[in-house]
Amino acid sequence: MPHIILLNGAPRKTGNTLRIAEWVAEGAQQQGADVTVIHLTDERIDHCQGCETCARTGRCIIQDDHEAICQQLEQAQGVIVCAPVYGGFYSSVLKTFLDRLTCTLGFTGRFAHLCAVGVTTARYDFRAKNAKDIAAALGSSWLNPGYVSGTIHKQVMDTKKSRNIVVSPENSPRLYAAAIKMGGKLVADIQQEKRGALPLPVRLLFRHLVLPGIAKILVNEQGKLPFLYQKMEEQGIINATLLRRHAAQMQRLSPDRPWKTGEKVKFTP
Ligand SMILES: Cc1cc2nc3c(=O)[nH]c(=O)nc-3n(C[C@H](O)[C@H](O)[C@H](O)COP(=O)(O)O)c2cc1C
Repeated sequence: MPHIILLNGAPRKTGNTLRIAEWVAEGAQQQGADVTVIHLTDERIDHCQGCETCARTGRCIIQDDHEAICQQLEQAQGVIVCAPVYGGFYSSVLKTFLDRLTCTLGFTGRFAHLCAVGVTTARYDFRAKNAKDIAAALGSSWLNPGYVSGTIHKQVMDTKKSRNIVVSPENSPRLYAAAIKMGGKLVADIQQEKRGALPLPVRLLFRHLVLPGIAKILVNEQGKLPFLYQKMEEQGIINATLLRRHAAQMQRLSPDRPWKTGEKVKFTP
């Protein structure tokens, strides 16, 4: 039975955003999935302090509910992420959760196995991009992005009456049907083990330009960020050639120091 997390980044539990996400969950349940709801506003999630300890150790220093939620996501096969648009972006509730993953997620691909559905609502700014961004955010490994099963982005403004509507299966039957169908698709995608893939040009750009650039910074910083260093070494991006080049460069910069060709960078955790 596929296990799906509904990660709710909407502050209002009676609002349109969560309601639509619940319809997606209903559709998934109809196809045999079990769904756990996590309301991010009920959890203790402090702001990222910007210390970058996670880049050194792979773990955040803040002791709160963040890591437990990450572990639940790790064990799930699918996620329905929802958040309303606030100030042209997704809510700070979701942003605070995601900020805590910024330094490591791209390297670890921790949630790249998840199939995801993104749900956003807004009064005016109801572009598909918002919903796609939040669905893709969790999978955001540079080489292995998560799979976006689908997105729902709904304008909740009744333009004639100039006020928000409250969606229901009765007043929005097409939206309800689409959400139920999307829940079913999410389960089918999980069962077919769909995986995300970046377009080839972007993949090549990351592999040959961006990641080697980051690797060079890590090597030059001489072990200040051992967790990231280790992850890039595992991916073969920090390799003997790069280390040889580094040693030659260091030899030029400090000729008095006996740098050996290919000398390994020593970690100082
Ligand atoms: C603080 C705040 C900021 C908002 N900013 C935007 C915005 O930038 N663009 C927009 O179209 N709607 C904006 N809205 C409207 C909400 O996106 C919209 O009402 C949404 O459906 C609320 O979701 P909910 O019913 O789940 O609470 C904002 C609402 C609030 C409370």
